[in-house]
Amino acid sequence: MTYVGIDKLCFYTSNFYLDLKELAKARNQEVDKFYVGLGQEQMSIHPPDEDVITLAANAAWLAIQDIDPNDISMILFATESGLDFSKSCGVYIQHLLGLPKTCRILEVKQACYSGAGALMLAMPYLQQNPTKKVLLITSDIARYGLNTPGEPTQGCGSAAMLLSANPKLIAIEPESGYYSDHTWDFWRPNYSKDAIVDGKYSTRVYLTTLQECWKEYQKNSHREYSDHTRFCYHLPFTKMAEKAHERLRRTCGVDQITDSLISDSLEYSRRVGNSYTASLFIGLASILDHAQNDISGQRIGFFSYGSGCVAEFFSGIVQKDYKNHLTTLYHKNLLDQRKELSITEYEEFFNHALPETGVEYATPRYTTGKFRLAGVKDHTRQYEKMF
Ligand code: HMG
Repeated sequence: MTYVGIDKLCFYTSNFYLDLKELAKARNQEVDKFYVGLGQEQMSIHPPDEDVITLAANAAWLAIQDIDPNDISMILFATESGLDFSKSCGVYIQHLLGLPKTCRILEVKQACYSGAGALMLAMPYLQQNPTKKVLLITSDIARYGLNTPGEPTQGCGSAAMLLSANPKLIAIEPESGYYSDHTWDFWRPNYSKDAIVDGKYSTRVYLTTLQECWKEYQKNSHREYSDHTRFCYHLPFTKMAEKAHERLRRTCGVDQITDSLISDSLEYSRRVGNSYTASLFIGLASILDHAQNDISGQRIGFFSYGSGCVAEFFSGIVQKDYKNHLTTLYHKNLLDQRKELSITEYEEFFNHALPETGVEYATPRYTTGKFRLAGVKDHTRQYEKMF
């Protein structure tokens, strides 16, 4: 059998962040509610000249550095922050990165789940086309609104993955367990910039779907909890993964929680915040970048949850030599070099809106990334390469 999976994984986030200490002060909350209760310390905030396309273009640019771009035959763009009812975000990426025109491009949507869903759909394609590569991009901006309970769980980021046969990082195993239901836990109507959420209910649905997916996964794979040495959960906030892991452990009748099974996966998200479709894969990057010992040959269990809701539990095996194909230093520098915002600056960024009348508009310069949103003209977004 040909092994298929993730050959390269790079993430990108905004150059600006808000420390949740400052948010707690401004909203008259205890810092520990955010730092300990939610397990979040910072959140990336996008400036006016950054959007899901620029986040994605930066992540994808890095992911394709060592390959012949002509090998890419499909671009899948997973997002719930889509910019157009018609045109997919992936077409912008093809243009900005000069990717082949002989490429199938699609945008996929189902809340935070669509990145994992697209990954699973790409696997049989690569089994049948083992010389091809798929560029899977997950990119999102999480917005709940100022002074809302969801505010400390915002963030933004993009994870770009090259998927291929004989992958260098993770081989995805074919058996998985999925589950879906018609729930109103979190959604964003077309007329709204911010999500509508029933926060407490959403955490309960997340945990119920985890149990349902695990049951299906076990039935299909015949694997036990102990067959996995790490777990990587969707991360709306890091405490959610701790609750999820506790639920799985109890479901499986496992007594002792071993912190290291999930702790490496939480490092980046504690600083980036929720990045919806990207968060599971930023969790994976966090495991690969932070694992102290060589974890090649080990099995990671993944749980992706998308509100509304669709969820899936699947698994992957870390590949030999994976350490030689990481971009750890880039990721660490990216986070360390971000600029901290004051509350006033954060609120100004949050309230900035592009004109919706078609009038020509130039966005102010903030981002230090390789791509920026220069403005709008005739109802079309204009992008600039900064190199
Ligand atoms: P809240 O109601 O303001 O917070 O919002 P809370 O009162 O529940 O407190 C949070 C935790 O902090 C609690 O811990 C408190 O006890 C603790 P818990 O009981 O949950 O273990 N706490 C403290 N701890 C230490 N020191 C203190 C202190 N004070 C309180 N001083 C909520 C929380 C998550 C509901 C809110 O932030 C929210 O609505 N967030 C957005 C929704 C969300 O993230 N849901 C997660 C599951 S759904 C999902 O993952 C999908 C999603 O990513 C979207 C998609 O799929 O598209 C969201």
